[in-house]
Amino acid sequence: MTSPKPPRGRSTEILHTGYRPPEGFGSLTTPIHHASTVTFTDVASMRARDWRNKDSYTYGLHGTPTTFTLEERIAVLDGGEHTILTPSGLAAIALVNLSLLKSGDHLLLPENVYNPSRDLGASLLASWGISVTQYDPAEAGAVVERMTPSTRLMWIESPGSVTMEVADVPALVAAARSKGVLTAIDNTWSASLFFAPFAHGVDIVMQALTKYPSGGSDVLMGSVTTRDLKLYEKLKLGHMRLGLGVSGDDAYLVLRGLASLKSRLAQHEQGAHKVARWLEGRPEVAQVLHPALEDCPGHAFWKRDYRGAGGLFSFVLDRSIPQEKVDAMVDALELFQIGYSWGGAVSLAIPYLMQEVRTNKPWNRGSLVRLSIGLEDPEDLTTDLAQAFSKL
Ligand SMILES: Cc1ncc(COP(=O)(O)O)c(C=O)c1O
Repeated sequence: MTSPKPPRGRSTEILHTGYRPPEGFGSLTTPIHHASTVTFTDVASMRARDWRNKDSYTYGLHGTPTTFTLEERIAVLDGGEHTILTPSGLAAIALVNLSLLKSGDHLLLPENVYNPSRDLGASLLASWGISVTQYDPAEAGAVVERMTPSTRLMWIESPGSVTMEVADVPALVAAARSKGVLTAIDNTWSASLFFAPFAHGVDIVMQALTKYPSGGSDVLMGSVTTRDLKLYEKLKLGHMRLGLGVSGDDAYLVLRGLASLKSRLAQHEQGAHKVARWLEGRPEVAQVLHPALEDCPGHAFWKRDYRGAGGLFSFVLDRSIPQEKVDAMVDALELFQIGYSWGGAVSLAIPYLMQEVRTNKPWNRGSLVRLSIGLEDPEDLTTDLAQAFSKL
């Protein structure tokens, strides 16, 4: 009798799951399959095919062996069963909303939500009769009060990608479940390496693969993962109806990035920690918003539920420093580039006008600068910050 194989780690599985090349064509890469029109050997086989099955083509929009391989690997990474790819992270958010909500439904968004997601709720969703209420992610105990009999879905973003507060995800999920409300989490910050939402009862895990899984700052992609087959089928129907296919070339870039995800994240984490500690010691800085630091809002939840931190965090400058000086400091940075998005090899800095992002927290009153720490030597980054701080 052969003994059962021991379970493998996710770092192994995201390299080995999925694509099997044809006999005699073995290599270590997944070929890029291009397909819009696909062909069938005869009418009977054309009629027998079902677009939901991944074992053969029905139409290029529904996927190719390249995109199916990436879907399987992201499902492993997220700890789920079924993954759908979308042309951007924002498209993944839209897919969830558009597939699961209808006119008359109510949606809950956290106050720290990615701003374009808030905008989608306030514009298109509102115009289609879907109402949206925001809740304070720091007050999980009060979220039930925001629910109505029409609430269908609650998004969670932890930590918030600008304000960085970590949510009590198990408590939010418990509140949602008590009212039969589905939960979806934007898990981009942790890249699903540092936080396992399904283990905490979340129904849908979304990631912007644009960030850490790609790592290249050169491709846009999003993913939506579930464990529940019925939920997956609803989302898959929405994906098909909205025509949100992704190209094999882009999927290849993410597959390539995925192989080094764990080691890159370890370096991002180490660098960010060093830069954050350096900022803590600066008199110009009122607060460093890094989930692994003790005074970050929600740090206790991070400590309880997370296995690490990536490279994205923010700091708030003393409120006596005017915005023009903060902008001049950011302009003076030489290694840090000024840019939205994050998760690539080159460090980024971006100043936020907090009044536009979130108004009701004390740490929001000073000027906030968000940093995405890349893969440079952290000492070079603190030297760069030190010379730029002279502008303050
Ligand atoms: C937290 C978060 N979610 C989603 C997205 C959207 O990803 P994409 O840029 O691929 O649309 C972003 C982009 O910056 C983000 O920061």
